[in-house]
Amino acid sequence: MIRRSVVRGTGHYLPERVVENSWFEERLDTTDEWIRTRSGIERRHFAAEGQTTSDLAIRAGKAALERAGLTAEDLDGIVLATSTPDFTFPAVATMVQAGLGMKRGFAYDVQAVCAGFVFALANADAMIRSGLASRILVVGAETFSRIMDWTDRSTCVLFGDGAGALILEAQDAAGENTDRGILSSDLNSDGTYRELLYVDGGVSSTGTAGQLRMQGNLVFRHAVDKLAKTAHTSLEKAGLDGSDVDWMIPHQANLRIISATAQKMSLPLDKVVLTVADHGNTSAASIPLAMSIADAEGRLKPGQLIVTEAIGGGLSWGSVVLRW
Ligand code: UT7
Repeated sequence: MIRRSVVRGTGHYLPERVVENSWFEERLDTTDEWIRTRSGIERRHFAAEGQTTSDLAIRAGKAALERAGLTAEDLDGIVLATSTPDFTFPAVATMVQAGLGMKRGFAYDVQAVCAGFVFALANADAMIRSGLASRILVVGAETFSRIMDWTDRSTCVLFGDGAGALILEAQDAAGENTDRGILSSDLNSDGTYRELLYVDGGVSSTGTAGQLRMQGNLVFRHAVDKLAKTAHTSLEKAGLDGSDVDWMIPHQANLRIISATAQKMSLPLDKVVLTVADHGNTSAASIPLAMSIADAEGRLKPGQLIVTEAIGGGLSWGSVVLRW
């Protein structure tokens, strides 16, 4: 018998304000057609003035607890992925902890930009398997609208705000790839690619929050190359391959990247959970948002095999294979 981390519940929250592509047409030299055809994005949600990353995360966390039939007291910890924290410190996770009324356990943030949720999930899984915790709330929450350069049409049309969460719970398992729960993961970073995607400010450099800068077409090429490879590596570690996959739940940055990755894995698009059209790129929130929405719609069935993958600033990229 071994310990596995099994998903016990999911939840999400999207800010009320929905911004259609046409909103940008009025402000920038861009078109709905360009945004749709180059990225697959049709609309995104933006947080209201004063609404912070922790506000979104608390709502997603509450929804996940409710769906799991648990209370905050049942959790041993919170691991939260974000690159847009309310404050430099404390960790957003501790604000979520307070917001949920949780007095014990640990809470900390993970920062791997758009790959953040995959890193957080692998991290929480390792803690559960090592016996350090038995139930962890894993959250991805972002307010990327706060770090946009609204004059840069090549970036500001792509991102959105939101939060998604899931609860991982220790369960005894046989140690086979037919077990429920997280079966394998693969994490990578290469800091020499910093210039492709970064924020041009920070605490110890400019003393400002900064704005997002991206060489989109170069990131695109890395994404198409690296995402299928990392998914393949994770599947191989679990003794599985693309033909075993029931659902791909990818980071939602660009429909063309998602399609190319699915094609490389010989997966038809109807096995891919797609939310990019309605959410845009919500960075670390995109995977748990997509997972929670697919779960709420009843599309994810117990026993199904899911592969989730992401790439973002760093560059950092990775994947997790789990059985629902
Ligand atoms: O989540 C973190 C990881 N991030 C990603 O995965 C994003 C990866 N990159 C992408 O999704 C795509 O590269 C973009 C959607 C950002 C851009 O698509 P692209 O097909 O790579 O276009 P491009 O950057 O090569 O730009 C093509 C043209 C350029 O004009 P010229 O030089 O060909 O005349 C841009 O100036 O499109 C122009 N352009 C725009 N035109 C209208 C750039 N942004 C816009 C815009 N509206 N908003």
